[in-house]
Amino acid sequence: MNIQMVDLHSPYMEIKHEIDSAIQEVLDTTAFIRGPGVGAFEAELAAYLGGNEVLGVANGTDALQIALMALGIAPGDEVISPSFTFVATAEAVGLLGAIPVFADILPNTFTIDPKQVEALISPKTKAIVPVHLFGQCADMTEICRISDKYGIPVIEDNAQAIGSTWNGVPAGTIGDIGTLSFFPSKNLGCYGDGGAIVSRRTDLLNQSRLISNHGSSKKYHNEIIGVNSRLDTIQAAILRVKLQHLDAYIRARVAAADRYDALFEGQQGVITPFRHPNGTHVFHQYTLRVSGNNGERRDALQAHLASKDIPSFVYYPVPLHLLPIYKNHPGSCRFGSLPETLKAANEVLSLPMHTHLSKAEQEYIAASCIEFLN
Ligand SMILES: Cc1ncc(COP(=O)(O)O)c(C=O)c1O
Repeated sequence: MNIQMVDLHSPYMEIKHEIDSAIQEVLDTTAFIRGPGVGAFEAELAAYLGGNEVLGVANGTDALQIALMALGIAPGDEVISPSFTFVATAEAVGLLGAIPVFADILPNTFTIDPKQVEALISPKTKAIVPVHLFGQCADMTEICRISDKYGIPVIEDNAQAIGSTWNGVPAGTIGDIGTLSFFPSKNLGCYGDGGAIVSRRTDLLNQSRLISNHGSSKKYHNEIIGVNSRLDTIQAAILRVKLQHLDAYIRARVAAADRYDALFEGQQGVITPFRHPNGTHVFHQYTLRVSGNNGERRDALQAHLASKDIPSFVYYPVPLHLLPIYKNHPGSCRFGSLPETLKAANEVLSLPMHTHLSKAEQEYIAASCIEFLN
């Protein structure tokens, strides 16, 4: 059994013909940058996301930076995000000279705790960045209530949850701007780097478009300082093909999650992923909680799985407020008391999750976990 954490090859083989001919078409036309396929993908993704406008950019990290720039985030401004996330969520905040402010998470969904968000708001707060972690939405009802109450815009970091919904509304389209990543292992992944910005606010989408293209709408007539961050035509061509399969990919992931849930049912010593009733979960990750001895028990389970050739990952072992980039620069970030973040970092373990995980593989993975837990 060759169990992979993520299988990128099998889904490619299934649609090889479509992908290869889409790439060949770009090669034939040589319209590598801003080719017609980019606009076509933006329109198709916009339709998938309920009609909100979409802008393709170079990756999900740039999408966050451009979104912050479009909102006019400047040095000294504060931006609230969770600490339990991938570094990119807060990286651009620091890059722009703004101050990351870290809130704790809710223990069941691992997403930002709205109560903490409200408590951390100051006159300098200029944006809130919830992260739809592991494939399901943060509590967008509460985040939007806070956003409306204080007049603070929301950027949804939706790198991990494309296709999920909150009260029936697509993730990424609930706040002022949503950002997406098409990193190869993401639920909608391209074959290199790619990302997008989505917004129902035309002003923010237009400003993002300007920023992403050197701050110019007319070549050599740059209006503002921008960046070079475009989705290239080959990636757009791949994404157009894969977008048509996204719902099937999500169904396969949810079916795999259902199978894991059934295999772990009634098992002591482990908590399987919580599914919030207000939303849908697209299982970018299937993340267990295993508590004990400040992370030692989780680490021992991971070592046990590795001894049986089963890969697993800790997303994320070091909360952002403890990373050297923020920890060693006192005053450069603010944070509340983050007990749930620290606890999660010691307890989480993500199991193999992808569209082609077989029943036999999952039975072997779960049996190996249970052997350790018992
Ligand atoms: C939560 C989160 N935010 C942002 C990003 C950044 O995306 P990218 O790798 O495309 O820059 C990622 C992906 O790695 C992510 O998981």
